Amino acid sequence: MSNTIIQFQNVSKQYDEDSLVLDDVSFEIERGKFYTLLGPSGCGKTTILRLIAGFTEATKGDIHFNGKKMNHIPANKRQVNTVFQDYALFPHLNVFENVAFGLRIKKMKNSEIKAKVEEALSFVNLSGYGDREIKDMSGGQRQRVAIARAIVNQPEVILLDEPLSALDLKLRYQMQGELRELQRRLGITFIFVTHDQEEALAMSDEIFVLNKGTIQQSGTPNDIYDEPINRFVADFIGESNIVSGTMIQDYLVEFVGKQFTCVDKGMNKNEPVEVVIRPEDLEITSHEQGMLQIKVSSQLFRGVHYEITGNDKDGNEWLVHSTKSVNVDDDIGLKFEPEAIHVMRFDETEEDFDKRLDSYSEGDANEQS
Ligand SMILES: Nc1ncnc2c1ncn2[C@@H]1O[C@H](COP(=O)(O)OP(=O)(O)OP(=O)(O)O)[C@@H](O)[C@H]1O
Ligand SMILES: [Mg+2]
Repeated sequence: MSNTIIQFQNVSKQYDEDSLVLDDVSFEIERGKFYTLLGPSGCGKTTILRLIAGFTEATKGDIHFNGKKMNHIPANKRQVNTVFQDYALFPHLNVFENVAFGLRIKKMKNSEIKAKVEEALSFVNLSGYGDREIKDMSGGQRQRVAIARAIVNQPEVILLDEPLSALDLKLRYQMQGELRELQRRLGITFIFVTHDQEEALAMSDEIFVLNKGTIQQSGTPNDIYDEPINRFVADFIGESNIVSGTMIQDYLVEFVGKQFTCVDKGMNKNEPVEVVIRPEDLEITSHEQGMLQIKVSSQLFRGVHYEITGNDKDGNEWLVHSTKSVNVDDDIGLKFEPEAIHVMRFDETEEDFDKRLDSYSEGDANEQS
């Protein structure tokens, strides 16, 4: 059996004539992994979930489930359950009956329902809560009831649409860990939606970064953090310094009027590029020792580090995370390793980007032999 459970082939979605909500989206979802759709409000995340669940149909393209085309299969015939943002629990039913609802519709025997519901409740750490009214449950507990209601049907895929957004920060962190753990134990494919990049990085096997109805980049959290394909992804995933530059030749890039050794290659000579350096990869030195010089404009203490901003002579703003403290208006230097520099081409497709990255490791292998 192929490991692919869901496949989108050139899927476009228009709700009305003049707006394209999804534009030629293709991807594959593998069985048993935790996926996250990440992107700003309105980029089409919920629309992708609705297409998978069968609550709406694609305008163009095909959606396959276990290798079969499922464009016109109704929602209730799909092996998919959804956990909605507002949980959509039934307030007039207790916890047990909320979870049992889908099984009652299937006309399952009472004894079987009892066993399944109790198992689902124990999975989400709510054993013994069956008789409670929904209104007497906390936000985090309601969230778990909603998840129990989804897993009790033993679907192949669970869709979760920003299920943690109503929770306070502490509970949110706790539930992130619990959800990830639950997914591992169940081995069900989770497709999770969020616009919180930290949440996506912490929880996912694979992230799809979306913007304006297209997938900008897909990959593991590490891939996407370390090798963003373009300015949008670099900016959306974590804090970044992004400046324009010129790729002089392989392994040599120029920005802020200086040339630096880097680890990037495979671009044209003197190609205009964008350069990303993460704030935690910048080290503060004296003005003279710096590879770049900035004048400090602000400093905030963030608990574990100082967040320092300043401007270079070209007017670019730089953000630095450091355990050292400086003063506003200080002239300081910044140092960084060649590996800290990440060079991005304008308008590179994900396919070409991946090919170029692959050539890096092939190159290393050749150099070693
Ligand atoms: N039923 C609908 N009819 C018309 N337009 C719609 C409909 N549903 C969504 N849209 C539009 O499609 C676009 C994408 O919506 P979608 O709900 O998929 O975004 P999202 O990424 O989930 O955003 P959010 O983070 O705000 O939930 C938006 O511009 C939205 O206004
Ligand atoms: Mg949404």
